Amino acid sequence: MKLLVTGGAGFIGSAVVRLAVARGHHVVNLDALTYAACLENLAPVAQSPLYAFEQADIRDRAALTRIFATHQPDAVMHLAAESHVDRSIDGPGDFISTNVTGTYEMLEAARAYWVAQGRPESFRFHHISTDEVFGSLGATGQFLETTPYDPRSPYSASKAASDHLVQAWYHTYGLPVVMTNCSNNYGPYHFPEKLIPVVILNALAGKPLPIYGDGSNIRDWLYVEDHADALLLVVEKGALGRSYNIGGENERSNLDLVRRLCAILDELRPKASGSYADQITFVTDRPGHDARYAIDPTRIREELGWRPSVTVEEGLRRTVVWYLENEDWWRPLQTRRGVGQRLGVTV
Ligand SMILES: NC(=O)c1ccc[n+]([C@@H]2O[C@H](COP(=O)([O-])OP(=O)(O)OC[C@H]3O[C@@H](n4cnc5c(N)ncnc54)[C@H](O)[C@@H]3O)[C@@H](O)[C@H]2O)c1
Repeated sequence: MKLLVTGGAGFIGSAVVRLAVARGHHVVNLDALTYAACLENLAPVAQSPLYAFEQADIRDRAALTRIFATHQPDAVMHLAAESHVDRSIDGPGDFISTNVTGTYEMLEAARAYWVAQGRPESFRFHHISTDEVFGSLGATGQFLETTPYDPRSPYSASKAASDHLVQAWYHTYGLPVVMTNCSNNYGPYHFPEKLIPVVILNALAGKPLPIYGDGSNIRDWLYVEDHADALLLVVEKGALGRSYNIGGENERSNLDLVRRLCAILDELRPKASGSYADQITFVTDRPGHDARYAIDPTRIREELGWRPSVTVEEGLRRTVVWYLENEDWWRPLQTRRGVGQRLGVTV
């Protein structure tokens, strides 16, 4: 396939690009290169004849029209977004603009291209979204594809809005769409403002390991390469107009997760004395912090045969090893705007 991947210089998008090229797909990576982007993530494919890069903003319709006409993709995988909840609390405008208006521009550019091509049914617009659109769970239950939307942060509200636009373009215009909603990802190339890299890098620097509130918030963790594998399966085999929840069935409280990372670091890079867990510090909670997310992945497992291949234990170990071995990647990112600062508490 010839895939147009938006946000391919980000954390998940770059994993998709690397895997797609490894599987022999042609990939055009469309990315505006915001603060969250890192072209180094694409070093393994940068010289491949299967890979092309277009620096463009998804809100720029003229650029999108040119890119569709130039590259003639068989499918779009739309990942470009503002993705950090804490930043969405401090500055929701960028989230509305990129995640909502940007998705609208992508849908319209894709629709014009698809119509000009004679409306091929084989075309796919794959919209990549998050489980956060479903809101917050209590102690029990899981998100199904049919769970009503109940977003609570500016980030999740903007993603929910984009999901609704994608459904509307399917029902109204017949654009051949598929959608996925995934739980928290982790793994190599995770930008150093998100919990897992922050914990690893602060631990190594002897800094406090900040845990929001009492650390009881539960997330369902999925290794990023398993997510990329699921996304390629959905774009190739997903049923028209259908959405699929993707999760790792690996629920962990934030406190348990951080303690586990500390234990792995204690083993791989022991401190002169004591444990990295001694650096754990409880800090002011995130406003509106969702208590628990959990995905029921039955649909993608039963209909498409997908299941994760990396356990959370193995994935966390691989991730820690990767950060220990890739300081050249993460060190320069720590000077980017806002990284290392506490964001999202001013309301
Ligand atoms: N990270 C997670 O755990 C997770 C979980 C489920 C779903 N998602 C979704 O997956 C997608 C990718 O997430 P991520 O964690 O890789 O994000 P990320 O922040 O690491 O990367 C986003 C990429 O999009 C690009 N981008 C941002 N605004 C753009 C614009 N206006 N035009 C073009 N490019 C732009 C950035 O330059 C960056 O390369 C997002 O849509 C996100 O909502 C993320």
